[in-house]
Amino acid sequence: MKLQQAREEVQKLREEIESHNYRYYVLDEPSIPDAEYDALFRRLQVLEGQFPELITPESPTQRVGGKPRDGFATVRHAVPMLSLNNVFSEGEMRDFCQRVADGLGVAESSICWSAEPKFDGLAISLLYRNGQLVQAATRGDGETGEDVTANARTIPAIPLRLRGQDWPKELEVRGEVYMPIAGFQAWNRRALERGEKPLANPRNGAAGSLRQLDPKITARRPLAFYSYGIGLCSETLAGQYTGILQKLRGWGIPVCPDATTVQGFAGCRDYHAHMLNKRDTLPYEIDGLVFKVNDLQAQETLGFVTRAPRWAIAWKFPAQEVSTRLLAIDVQIGRTGAVTPVARLEPVQVGGVTVTNATLHNEDEIRRKGICIGDWVIVRRAGDVIPEVVRAIPERRPADAQPFVMPTHCPVCGSRIHRAEGEAVSRCTGGLFCPAQRKQAIKHFASRKAMDIEGLGDKLVDQLVERELVQTPADLYHLRLEQVAALERMAEKSARNLLRAIDRSRETTLERFLFALGIREVGEATARALARHFGSLEALMQADQAALEAVEDIGPVVADHIVSFFAEAHNRQVIEQLLAAGIHWPEQQADTVQTLPLAGRTLVLTGTLRRPRSEIKAALEALGAKVAGSVSKKTAAVIAGEAAGSKLDKARTLGIPVVDEQGLEAILVEPQFFETIIKQ
Ligand code: IVH
Repeated sequence: MKLQQAREEVQKLREEIESHNYRYYVLDEPSIPDAEYDALFRRLQVLEGQFPELITPESPTQRVGGKPRDGFATVRHAVPMLSLNNVFSEGEMRDFCQRVADGLGVAESSICWSAEPKFDGLAISLLYRNGQLVQAATRGDGETGEDVTANARTIPAIPLRLRGQDWPKELEVRGEVYMPIAGFQAWNRRALERGEKPLANPRNGAAGSLRQLDPKITARRPLAFYSYGIGLCSETLAGQYTGILQKLRGWGIPVCPDATTVQGFAGCRDYHAHMLNKRDTLPYEIDGLVFKVNDLQAQETLGFVTRAPRWAIAWKFPAQEVSTRLLAIDVQIGRTGAVTPVARLEPVQVGGVTVTNATLHNEDEIRRKGICIGDWVIVRRAGDVIPEVVRAIPERRPADAQPFVMPTHCPVCGSRIHRAEGEAVSRCTGGLFCPAQRKQAIKHFASRKAMDIEGLGDKLVDQLVERELVQTPADLYHLRLEQVAALERMAEKSARNLLRAIDRSRETTLERFLFALGIREVGEATARALARHFGSLEALMQADQAALEAVEDIGPVVADHIVSFFAEAHNRQVIEQLLAAGIHWPEQQADTVQTLPLAGRTLVLTGTLRRPRSEIKAALEALGAKVAGSVSKKTAAVIAGEAAGSKLDKARTLGIPVVDEQGLEAILVEPQFFETIIKQ
């Protein structure tokens, strides 16, 4: 593409993306699906990558953050950023309201309060000059803060320019950068899966993200912003605080929808009760409420004491993080066999609820946080999420504190506990046998794509397991009519139907049976590939890691799961019982693929090929070949297009035949001459 052509497309893309941004963040009315937006964005990134001379600081791609800096410049706040005094009880709040009334010489009940959440994030001051964001600063000590402009510019909720025309020439917007709970949880879920360090809480998440020297890191974090006031302003905006918020909202500044006004102490008390009740369902974390005298004239009359206003107060909620003793660490087995270490705690009130257990996530997390049994720890509970141990307090460690050791066997069924390579989670290998996994295993076994036992729904499985009529799937085949008929919502006729369905499931296929076993990550497609490749259950059960990895689409992780599953004696026993109960399938010819001309050959594609890779892959697979992603000694040939790189080098080092696109076409036309073609 020519530079001129790229310039035009870049210009068009930017305008399009900016108009979608405005619809999404300000109007809350997106007009295209996210995926389409992402595609526009990616296209712009690609073009800017090819023609870096077209990049400008205003480009939407530059929200991803600029270059890292050595440190933050200092910003002196023209109007100091104040703090708030706190109250913790209804009595203290009542006294505060009375003090304000006395200060104003009015009846307490006549005061109109602005009532809003106290967001748990980091205060920020955004300076807009002529409607453009020119500076963002943290609160710091209230007098001077740090210049975090580059970081703030990456936060999508902070407009880079104000909407409309009627904004003051100079306007400092004050508010809180916070991390929405959903974003925080998604971030931590990913971190735990990857074995990375999770964020301690949304507040630390927000504060830590905003104060990154590399704004690219800030850009990746899910941050948002709510405004709760102004600093410097070249005009008088309104007579009331809520009037200011309304103006800000009109200029495209996000204001919390839960903010409102209430009348007198009674109104404050009701709002407090209402929000405390709502706390666990809010999409953002709060540590209390803020009440401000709404009338700006009255605010001026009241003034300040040192660094806090007399006209505002924070009514704090019970803390969501507290310290307590870690008495023991047990492990819990989840429905899929995941082993989760659970902290047994000295009972403690957290966010208004007594907590005695908290999750420790996994072994690496315990090690990373340096937690020992007997330690004093910080426990956190927020929303409807399971309480967790955030960290230990090493300064308070008793001399007899003990490190945690992951048990080698499942405390529920005694099967081996296995941690697959590269995984953060350990699992009980008891699968079909482990009572902790029993209901789940049986529901899966009976499901439509597995053994397809019609009428055996979740509720029935629950009853069968709870009444101990069924311990493993094999027990299903020994149920008696009177046992089934005695279950809730079962009559003789339905019981008979169920037994008939169970009986019918004895006749199945190998692939259904393999899928029904519930081996981790063995879905229908993998079960089918295994059945085709090995032809019999015996052959599969004897396969080692290498033999399994030779099966199409099976990598080391799945192979490891399969080996571990069959290595567990309990699982082999259940399989034997199932076969003894009469489950059977038609004999299958091992590896039907074997008869195809390219059977057993692994090929690797590299470089730029004229046809789409997926198409070439499908064509080769139809001829029985396996198409792998990397070159190894097992590779039969490498098909190299233009600009092939490291894979081609590796093939040459290993002496593996290399063919070009012409060779590929020849193979596809005459696969029976494969050997001859690759030798050319
Ligand atoms: S008003 C003059 N409103 O709390 C009052 N602050 O303890 C200035 N905060 O530094 C602050 N939510 O980081 C105000 N709705 C809210 C708030 C809020 C959270 C934070 C803010 C401030 C601290 C003061």
